[in-house]
Amino acid sequence: MNTNGSLALPRTAKLDDGSEITLRRLGRDDVAEFLAFTQSLPDHDLLFLRTDITDAGVVADWLDNIEAGRILTIVAERDGRIYGYASLHFSNTPWSKHVGELRVLISGEMRGKGLGRGLTEAIFAQALDRGIEKMVAQMTIDQKGAISTFEQLGFKAEALLRDHVKDRTGQTHDLLVYSHDVAGFQSQLDAYGMTEAASGL
Ligand SMILES: CC(C)(COP(=O)(O)OP(=O)(O)OC[C@H]1O[C@@H](n2cnc3c(N)ncnc32)[C@H](O)[C@@H]1OP(=O)(O)O)[C@@H](O)C(=O)NCCC(=O)NCCS
Repeated sequence: MNTNGSLALPRTAKLDDGSEITLRRLGRDDVAEFLAFTQSLPDHDLLFLRTDITDAGVVADWLDNIEAGRILTIVAERDGRIYGYASLHFSNTPWSKHVGELRVLISGEMRGKGLGRGLTEAIFAQALDRGIEKMVAQMTIDQKGAISTFEQLGFKAEALLRDHVKDRTGQTHDLLVYSHDVAGFQSQLDAYGMTEAASGL
């Protein structure tokens, strides 16, 4: 998917299969649709999430954090249905103000069409604008698809934390921390000509 690396939201973006989808910020009016999306996710996808995003109270807290400027969330929507999101979590630790954490989740039926890449690009554009210099993404060693995806996007493994995650069944997993410098991601997009190629979107 090509999203122009642009800051403008909402905007229409093209997926790798040629279809279009709208990228826009998550807002209070989206709660029902957002819950419909999270509640449709298979257990395996929910197993490793830090919070229970199928819970209306958790989503309400999330929106509070968005309104307080602690989280920025972009959703992908088509015909009133949400198919995925990417979030940028800002650090409230003074010495890590330049670091943001990226979380991405795409519905099963939309995977492999460039939506994860497109949402990540959209988040990086926002991160650059907000003065974030380094992006991290965390995943367990079992999340092979996510590891391949983030490596394809130029993220590098930076740390391995043993038995750091306990899933909902109580089983522990090693956690990988990947990182990418934000300016470098922008140069990568520029080098691929992606910022210009999509200017007609
Ligand atoms: C990881 C995830 C966000 C990827 O989303 P997606 O929309 O399917 O990914 P894309 O189609 O944009 O693919 C991006 C790149 O990764 C590659 N990729 C995607 N899924 C892959 C897989 N399972 N195996 C290998 N490579 C894969 C694509 O080929 C593409 O490479 P390219 O940019 O060179 O073309 C999605 O699988 C997901 O929601 N997983 C569950 C949640 C999760 O693990 N999130 C990550 C932790 S924050």
